[in-house]
Amino acid sequence: MNILDSPGKQQTQKELYEKTRTVIVKDSSAGCSQLAAEVADLIRQRQGENKNVVLGLATGSTPVPFYKELIRLHQQEGLSFKNVITFNLDEYHGLAPDHRESYNRFMREQLFDHIDIPQENINIPDGTVSLDAVYESCLDYEKRIEEAGGIDLQILGIGRTGHIGFNEPGSSRDSRTRMITLDRITRRDAAADFLGEAHVPRHAITMGVGTILGAKRLVLMAWGGNKAEIVQQAVEGKVTDRISASFLQEHDNATFLVDEAASSQLTRIHLPWLVGSVEWDRKMIKRAVTWLSHRFEKPILRLVDEDYNESGAGEILTASGRAYNVNIGVFDLVKHTITGWPGGKPGTDDTHRPERADPHPKRVLIFSPEPSDAVMSLGGTIHRLVEQGHEVKLAVQTSGSLRVPDQAAQKFAAVLQEMAQVIGDDASSAGGEYASQVLTQLEEKGLFGDDSEDVKRLKALILRGEVRDAAQVCGLESDAVIFQDLPFYENGRYRQFQMTEEDVDCTAALLEEYQPHQIYATGHLADPSALQTLCYRSIEGALERFKDESWVDDCRVWLYRGKESEMNSYEIDMAVPMSPEQLELKSEAIRKFQSISQEELDSSGRNQTTAKRYDQLGMAEYEAIESFQRRG
Ligand code: GLP
Repeated sequence: MNILDSPGKQQTQKELYEKTRTVIVKDSSAGCSQLAAEVADLIRQRQGENKNVVLGLATGSTPVPFYKELIRLHQQEGLSFKNVITFNLDEYHGLAPDHRESYNRFMREQLFDHIDIPQENINIPDGTVSLDAVYESCLDYEKRIEEAGGIDLQILGIGRTGHIGFNEPGSSRDSRTRMITLDRITRRDAAADFLGEAHVPRHAITMGVGTILGAKRLVLMAWGGNKAEIVQQAVEGKVTDRISASFLQEHDNATFLVDEAASSQLTRIHLPWLVGSVEWDRKMIKRAVTWLSHRFEKPILRLVDEDYNESGAGEILTASGRAYNVNIGVFDLVKHTITGWPGGKPGTDDTHRPERADPHPKRVLIFSPEPSDAVMSLGGTIHRLVEQGHEVKLAVQTSGSLRVPDQAAQKFAAVLQEMAQVIGDDASSAGGEYASQVLTQLEEKGLFGDDSEDVKRLKALILRGEVRDAAQVCGLESDAVIFQDLPFYENGRYRQFQMTEEDVDCTAALLEEYQPHQIYATGHLADPSALQTLCYRSIEGALERFKDESWVDDCRVWLYRGKESEMNSYEIDMAVPMSPEQLELKSEAIRKFQSISQEELDSSGRNQTTAKRYDQLGMAEYEAIESFQRRG
């Protein structure tokens, strides 16, 4: 399908709910090569006519694979950008163009330095402009867009608040290029890039919604499960200034280009029977019935024929008889997902249990992409697995050092330095010297400089200590914690990590040595550039290498979710309940991550929501539930 084609009228029933044309692609690379091919066509067509093309460009991790593809087209297929003029959406206020987090530098590193675009054709809002000159500078930006003939094609990403550019909630339909105050969620999302929320600028200069809608063509890209909810709201919800991306509904040539994970909340994917015929297998029936139960806020067993009919799920009854029978079937399915024995219950009939009883004990390998991920998502389950006698190992995939603020490193180095002075022997004076070096390096690098090897090592050690403490609260001895330190993380930075075969080698070596019966992993639904995704791919790659080995056949992989959208009730294959004490124990474990911002670490709310949903379905009422999906 040609995504630059004019959308025309939306006809199909599938798209009835979608108010902006939405193209779903398998993954970001499929979407980006399609889009890049269309852009290349446009550039060439204009070259033939001796005309310029004006592109509106975006930053963030979303367009990175698109830029990579443009660079490839330039380097390998001779695509020239000499007739291309670009306007970027936005820039942080207060950052110089060479600041490592400025969008100016980002664009040069990700695209401009690798293609033949003339310097004078590049336009990016000036983040260094003084407050009293901002207004003029924004007016000038608008004028330059106009003089270039307007934007032919504007590329967009979407922030978690639904913003395009930096048009935070409240930005009006007619807003123009201006300075805005960044939303709390946006600043939190940028915290990892800026080594802590406190360092994220408070203001930015952005094209307005009106400026963006002035483009002749708009393509908004979104990848990964963490964008699913906001994409659904922007595409299917009301047009509102709370979600500036929803204004795309008012443009007659706009397309949402999303991958499967980001499309997962769209009605045609999430509730497909509402938009057409579906095959009513067990999974689909479970999905529809749990949805009905949540929708009517009625336990599954109290749903009646009318509930099915009135909400477009009447077809199930035609296929399977009365609501009563269907209800019982689904009730049992959900009930059987609940288990206090995540490693399987030895010596019992396991026909309806999520995990098999034998072998017991099992070798269990829990992967945690960042040091805190696993404890946050399955701290209670880890505790149970250990208590139930399994051989549990926690594999911390990346060192996490990039998340540790300088102050934490400073504090440890200062203590070490003082200790060396107090003790005064040779051994401690070596430690003292190391500590002084770290302190000097921290001072020299400033807030945004790159960490030296010494500083990185110290930060990683701090987190190692914290993981061990947290794991211990969950019942794991410190020798059960393995630190993989995957190379992609050590050599990269947030949003720009690149995985290599070396990462797969590391994970393969671990799997081969341990040959687990159970694996817990996450990252399958995260944004493709997220480190969780790369960590997950290293596991998939490693498992693929051993696919003919019998231990892999005998190994079940349980997927958990991190920051992506929460698991829907119907997606849960194993629900591990928690008592108030267990939840408190997990919170205690999470609090051990003292060097990481506590706001990022709160997960009990999510576990409690899952429990409330199960309660609402008519299951037993638990304090909290940790949920897992079985990898197919
Ligand atoms: C920032 C940018 C947006 C971008 C958004 C999402 O807020 N100003 O233009 O769309 O981040 O970023 P990402 O693509 O990394 O998810």
